[in-house]
Amino acid sequence: MDTRAIGMFDSGVGGLTVYKEVRKVFPNEDIIYYGDTKSFPYGNKSKGNIINLTKKGIDFLISKNVKAIVIACGTATSQASETVQSLYSLPIIGIIDSTAKYVSNQPNLKTIGVVATSGTIRSSGWQSALLKYNHNLSIINKPCPLLAPMAEEGWTNNQIADLTVNEYMKELYNVDALILGCTHYPLFTDIFKKYLKSDSQVINTGTIIAQDLSKILGSNLLNSSTHIGNLDIYLTDTECNFVFVANKLLDDSNLVIHNIL
Ligand code: DGL
Repeated sequence: MDTRAIGMFDSGVGGLTVYKEVRKVFPNEDIIYYGDTKSFPYGNKSKGNIINLTKKGIDFLISKNVKAIVIACGTATSQASETVQSLYSLPIIGIIDSTAKYVSNQPNLKTIGVVATSGTIRSSGWQSALLKYNHNLSIINKPCPLLAPMAEEGWTNNQIADLTVNEYMKELYNVDALILGCTHYPLFTDIFKKYLKSDSQVINTGTIIAQDLSKILGSNLLNSSTHIGNLDIYLTDTECNFVFVANKLLDDSNLVIHNIL
């Protein structure tokens, strides 16, 4: 039993889609969420820059005494997770590996679409992980650079969102599964579904991470008390729409937001 919090990390509001899934599985855990809104977006930055920003986020979460960290960001997972996993001793998990394993365990999934930020697609992080577990997969990668900024703006359910997703989905209609490889994209799930054949699976990495986190926490790191878990959000800049989008997504108007100066 360990009552310390779990740390979560993203460039902005996207990681809250992972938080939402983790919370369903772990109602008793305190969670400290770091949103690097000052440096958003990560999707168009160089690998060196992403590694430095990820280290900064992890150092911050460690200063808050967390017991494990979820990199709830596809861009940081694809470009910085290996580096930070080798530098720190606490458990750190990203969104790619667990999802790739999940896909390889479903024999009916043969053609996979991956939508993610430009940096994530450029890094080939999804491509390599998916092929590592099943080299017979056929993979179509599609960078969707406009979606994360639109999500931060709260534009996830309007005509512009519809037109943009439609444009990005042109070669992806027939895939067996669509991986939402950026954690901002589950906010567009209904629109993605509209442009996919009806039996395609839409994969939200948060649901898979939540399952994997159970294995990582085991019984030693789990908070098995009956306490209702708190969410504490730390932003590197609060001059943004984070609160508006987060309230809508989590349906919680009592969010505790701190500004890191
Ligand atoms: N939510 C992030 C991801 O999964 C970051 C998007 C961005 O900052 O560009 O890639």
